[in-house]
Amino acid sequence: MSDSLHTIIDLIRYGASRLAGAGLSFGHHSDNALDEARELVLHALGLPHDYPAAIGAARLLPEERQAVLDLLERRIRERIPAVYLTGLAMFAELAFKSDARALVPRSPIAELILARFAPWLDDRPLTRALDLCTGSGCIGIAIAVHNPGLPVDLVDLSPEALTLAAENIALHKVGDRVRAYRGDLFAPLPAGARYDLIVSNPPYITTAEYEALPAEYAHEPRLGLEAGADGLDVALKLLRDAPDYLNPSGLLVVEVGEAERALTALLPELPLIWLDFSVGQMGICAITAADLAPHRPRLAEICAARGL
Ligand SMILES: C[S@@+](CC[C@H](N)C(=O)[O-])C[C@H]1O[C@@H](n2cnc3c(N)ncnc32)[C@H](O)[C@@H]1O
Repeated sequence: MSDSLHTIIDLIRYGASRLAGAGLSFGHHSDNALDEARELVLHALGLPHDYPAAIGAARLLPEERQAVLDLLERRIRERIPAVYLTGLAMFAELAFKSDARALVPRSPIAELILARFAPWLDDRPLTRALDLCTGSGCIGIAIAVHNPGLPVDLVDLSPEALTLAAENIALHKVGDRVRAYRGDLFAPLPAGARYDLIVSNPPYITTAEYEALPAEYAHEPRLGLEAGADGLDVALKLLRDAPDYLNPSGLLVVEVGEAERALTALLPELPLIWLDFSVGQMGICAITAADLAPHRPRLAEICAARGL
């Protein structure tokens, strides 16, 4: 059967049909079988994304065809997210190294970075930004690249994630102003550190949701996904402590995904602004330092009751 697959286009078409029929989850980067098939075929052949259209009709050597088929089979059999097979993810119009050391970059926060957080940050120059729970470093590094000269700090609990973040810092040549710290949320930051902008995509999936996720998610670190019975264990601590690290006119942006419902039920009085994205609301909120500070006692009470 594979003898009748001759060209690059043949293999992309065949791959798309195979992936579509294999019951896979496409939630990690691209959201459909055709885009994933294209990614995997080009990667297996060592071709760039912007290959000339005429190349699509080029015939493959038997060993090239086999390399493509093997990669498609790994995606199907082992349920590995396609980005982990290619090793590269696009985020905020930038390429990042991506592998099982950290989550696949996919946060809609990329859209905010490209819009320079307008209108939530006005035209004031930023002096320093923080990416908490940085994983591959994609959010903080993208902020640094899109804001030349801005110092950015990154924090993650996972040493593996931080080795990947270090590789991405080097890839984007921002090592002179992007610092990575290992530890629990704000704990590892230098004394007196203050930020105009704190951005975080922490883990926010409930334990029950985690158990029911498609097989692809088992290739990602659990520490990056699961955050307790209602998904809020990390986000609540972050909201409690952020006022100590924000400048008086600073802004906090946090992604909590589906845990938005639990958060608004728990703290209906917290004046969070739920942001709109091109695809609608995505469980990402913003709040200023001034609006957050008065709610600190209540947040401390809730965290203490949970032993956080
Ligand atoms: C949802 S992933 C996000 C990664 C990255 N920011 C992104 O958007 O792709 C959450 C990250 O938080 C880290 N993490 C979990 N708990 C943490 C904590 N208490 N302090 C710091 N980082 C934590 C995990 O290791 C993981 O890399």
